[in-house]
Amino acid sequence: MRIAVFASGRGSNLRALMEAAGTGYLKAEIAVVLSDVQSARALERASQQGLAARFLEPEAFEVAALEILRNAAADLICLAGFMRILSGDFIQQCGVPILNVHPSLLPAFPGLRPQRQALEHGARVSGATVHLVDERVDHGPVIAQTPVPVFQDDDEESLSERILRQEHRIYPMAVRWFAEGRVLVEGRRVRIAGAPA
Ligand code: GRF
Repeated sequence: MRIAVFASGRGSNLRALMEAAGTGYLKAEIAVVLSDVQSARALERASQQGLAARFLEPEAFEVAALEILRNAAADLICLAGFMRILSGDFIQQCGVPILNVHPSLLPAFPGLRPQRQALEHGARVSGATVHLVDERVDHGPVIAQTPVPVFQDDDEESLSERILRQEHRIYPMAVRWFAEGRVLVEGRRVRIAGAPA
C-alpha cells in the first residue's frame, strides 16, 4: 500500500506512521507527504527520512495534490494534523479512502480545540478517534477509538499530551488494518475482519 500523508504542523502522527512503516509493523510505504504550510515541521521530518515532501500553495492545494497523488500511485490518504477542510469534489475525485485522526471520542467535540471543549464541558473521559473522511468535518465512519481519562487538574496541554500518546498508537493500527485489507465499511458501520465481534 502506498500512503500519502497531509500535514500542516508538527507532524508527530506522521512520525508515528513513519516509524510503523520503518519497523515493518505497517506493511506500507509513505509515498509522499504534502503540506499547506511551508514551515511545517512535518515536511522537515519527512525530508530527514528521505521521503518525498512538498509544500503546496494553500489556494491551489487540491488541484496540485490530485496530480501528485496520481503520479505517486497513492491508495490511501492519511490526514495528520491537516488543518484545511477538503472539498467534496476532492474527496470524490481522489478516488482513494481518506483517514483522519481526531483528539476526542467523536461524535463528541468535533472541530477545533477538542481537548479544550472536553475540559470546558467537564467530561471525565475523552479520547482519540481514527475515522474515514466524508464531506462533513470530523463526521465519517469510525475505524478505531480509544478512551482517555480527564483528570481534575488537567489543562489543555496535559490532556492533549495524554490523548496524543493514544493517537500515536491507534493511527498506525488503523492504517495497518487498511493495508491488510481488513476494513469493511457498511454505511456508517465498520467491520474489521478477523477482530472479535
Ligand atoms: C493531533 O492531535 C491530531 O489529532 C489533530 O492535530 C494534532 C496534530 O498533531 N488533528 P501532529 O501534527 O500529528 O503532531
